[in-house]
Amino acid sequence: MEVVILQGSKKIGRLAADAIEALLRRKPAAVLGLATGSSPLPVYDELAARHRRDGLDFSSAHAFALDEYVGLAHGHPESYREVIRREFTSRVNITEGNVHTPDGAAEDLAAACSAYEDAMRAAGGVDLQLLGVGTDGHIGFNEPGSSLASRTRIKTLIEQTRRDNARFFAGLAEVPHHVVTQGLGTILEARHVVLIATGAQKAPAVRDFVEGPVAAICPASVLQFHPHATVLVDEAAASSLK
Ligand code: F6R
Repeated sequence: MEVVILQGSKKIGRLAADAIEALLRRKPAAVLGLATGSSPLPVYDELAARHRRDGLDFSSAHAFALDEYVGLAHGHPESYREVIRREFTSRVNITEGNVHTPDGAAEDLAAACSAYEDAMRAAGGVDLQLLGVGTDGHIGFNEPGSSLASRTRIKTLIEQTRRDNARFFAGLAEVPHHVVTQGLGTILEARHVVLIATGAQKAPAVRDFVEGPVAAICPASVLQFHPHATVLVDEAAASSLK
């Protein structure tokens, strides 16, 4: 695991965008793994700027989101499908049909989860997966206690994560209790993983997954097994590292 400490999220956004740009120039039909939340926003802003300014081309690229709420209607503004569209894919020239999110509104969620894994496999697997990390060490919606070998499946959100995400909804009661998320085993199959963590509130999680033992209690620690994991942190998020 490579840990890079940078000053401020703009620099982090630029470095992650450099990796994605290099990938797209080498492999125009690359498969990108997308995260929602605030951590990847500077990357999306930078990629949108490079598309506008330099014509960075996403037309042959594919994208798979990490996770989705269960029970939000298609088109709900806080469904991750809409969030990804608003914050990233509508700002570049990626083909809409190439952007995939797990189907949290499916009648048969288990079948939708295995169809999602099949679609990722059929696309050739994820080349570069962007990740944020929760204050409890979750990646995707793999909360503490998730199996390190897990695949895309339904999970129950813990109260803290629902509270963390309530800012996007009218109130806590509106935040779904269930989600569909790629598993830790799924995430490990991405060829390159780029995790972004900023702010002092992430410092304990960064310390635990970078320097602590690999354990289900800290899901992001599974990235210690990944052969090509890059962790981009600002000074505040790095402040508890030895
Ligand atoms: C989002 C996701 C989550 C977030 C994490 C951090 O798709 O999978 O794991 O990355 O909750 O969220 P932020 O970046 O908002 O602090």
